[in-house]
Amino acid sequence: MESAVVASLLLFLFVGWSHVAEAQLPIPAKIDGFVYKRAPVWGHSVVVEAFFDPMCPDSRDSWPPLKKALKHYSSRLSVVVHPFPLPYHSNAFIACRALHIANKLNTSSTFPLLELFFKHQEEYYNTPTYNMSRASIIHHISKLAVRAIGKDSLSAVQSGFNDSQTDAAARISFKYGCSRGVTGTPYFFVNGMPLSNSGSALDYKGWKGIIDPLLGKQ
Ligand SMILES: *[C@@H]1O[C@H](CO)[C@@H](O)[C@H](O)[C@H]1NC(C)=O
Ligand SMILES: *[C@@H]1O[C@H](CO)[C@@H](O)[C@H](O)[C@H]1NC(C)=O
Ligand SMILES: *[C@@H]1O[C@H](CO)[C@@H](O)[C@H](O)[C@H]1NC(C)=O
Repeated sequence: MESAVVASLLLFLFVGWSHVAEAQLPIPAKIDGFVYKRAPVWGHSVVVEAFFDPMCPDSRDSWPPLKKALKHYSSRLSVVVHPFPLPYHSNAFIACRALHIANKLNTSSTFPLLELFFKHQEEYYNTPTYNMSRASIIHHISKLAVRAIGKDSLSAVQSGFNDSQTDAAARISFKYGCSRGVTGTPYFFVNGMPLSNSGSALDYKGWKGIIDPLLGKQ
């Protein structure tokens, strides 16, 4: 009896495990992420990958010091932002999808839209949008996106929300973060290695402390 239980448990574990091992994540045609100002990502610069949720206050607070570092290090620092919608921020997936729509319609509007989200994110928190329909939230976010993407883009943005490709792109962003073990935002990798103090805003001095020694070693 007992051995039957053990055997079926083992069978369950084996079947369960092989199922996990076999599940291939969808491979996107292009690697995920928005490269700030098209800086060269490979070769001569320190690469920071930042996983940001546009609806996360700590992501918002960590962007200005990272931007200051970008200005300081210029071409010696490359930043790639991966949108990572946290499930407990109700509108985060819509916002991440809007970033993909912006990137598709007008590449140079992606970061301006991210900054607009950071500026206005409190309007899209869970409580103030509790009674709003999904359609009306998408409408509000579309109008915000138009400010970055360009006037006359409203109908293109709205059909972007009907385009299954932008949905797929936002899902890939999420899965990419999961595959790298991202559990919250902001989450940073420097030259591929996770920063242990991820999850809270890193200040400019913190970035200098990390990047200066790496550039000295090059
Ligand atoms: C949502 O609407 C209900 C009914 O009108 C109202 O009682 C409630 O306070 C509203 N909640 C929020 C968070 O606005
Ligand atoms: C694209 O976005 C940038 C940044 O928001 C903006 O300055 C530019 O005018 C936009 N392009 C068009 C064609 O609207
Ligand atoms: C998006 O799809 C919905 C449902 O299929 C449709 O009612 C709506 O008109 C579409 N909107 C745009 C802008 O294409």
